Amino acid sequence: MPEEKTQKITIPFIQAKKENREKIVAITAYDFPVAKIVDESGIDLILVGDSLGMVVLGYENTIPVTMEDMIHHTKPVVRASKRALVVGDMPYFSFHLSNEESVFNASLFLKEAGASAVKIEGASKKRLKLIVTMIEAEIPIMGHVGLTPQSIHHLGQFKVKGREINEAEKIIQDAQNLEKAGVFSVVLECIPMEVARIITEKLKIPTIGIGAGPYCDGQILVFHDLVGFSNGYLPKFVKKYGDIHELISQAVIGYIDDVKKGKFPDSSHSYHLKSEKVKELIKKERGSLGRKKRKS
Ligand code: KIV
Repeated sequence: MPEEKTQKITIPFIQAKKENREKIVAITAYDFPVAKIVDESGIDLILVGDSLGMVVLGYENTIPVTMEDMIHHTKPVVRASKRALVVGDMPYFSFHLSNEESVFNASLFLKEAGASAVKIEGASKKRLKLIVTMIEAEIPIMGHVGLTPQSIHHLGQFKVKGREINEAEKIIQDAQNLEKAGVFSVVLECIPMEVARIITEKLKIPTIGIGAGPYCDGQILVFHDLVGFSNGYLPKFVKKYGDIHELISQAVIGYIDDVKKGKFPDSSHSYHLKSEKVKELIKKERGSLGRKKRKS
């Protein structure tokens, strides 16, 4: 087993955490500097989520995110992650056509971007078959049930799933079906904590909750939400641990102010001459400039 904070985390290590009743802590990241910070802070799992579309690329939902976007952003996260397990998120329509194309797309996360697994939303019969095929192709899969943001147009809005009996039963069944299909863990998004608790107790694989209460085996949050980088609406389930938006805004306002007032750059942020000959030359040039100005 990897020593805390040193060795690379593996899927068996993540799964053993459930057996040992240790919480799994996951977070999203989409670039090198953030991945480096969260990795060095001791995060177990980094998801390069398709939430990229909303928090980094400025889309209204995750639908426009492409495979190219996902691979492009997964690569630097993998480069920065010395310890955390990196999971790439399959974007909308990267797994909806043929099985061959879907497996090929999933393989790119491992082969091209260097991730260790992929996450895929949903648990329909067709999706379960696809997941089995992917696992046969040696691609470890993380499932995702409850609120699945790629179904936004069916749902109409992002809202809690599983409050009614039929929906709760379906989500529990979906999670069990995913376990049977062979996923190594499952994300439970935006479901009542009581439903998440039942799923967590029924499954041998770890559940990773987001808006699914305290009984899950692990938690995941979107990085930008928890550090206060997103400047808009935050769902009830987010706890804001910092205010990066305010910090950045104050820094940039300070910079604008200093430049306008001529306070930046000052001598301490400037380079200085060392050669006496060049100093002489500059003195001469400035002298002749001064004389010309006085004549005109
Ligand atoms: O895309 C994402 O960030 C996710 C998490 C919210 C689980 O799917």
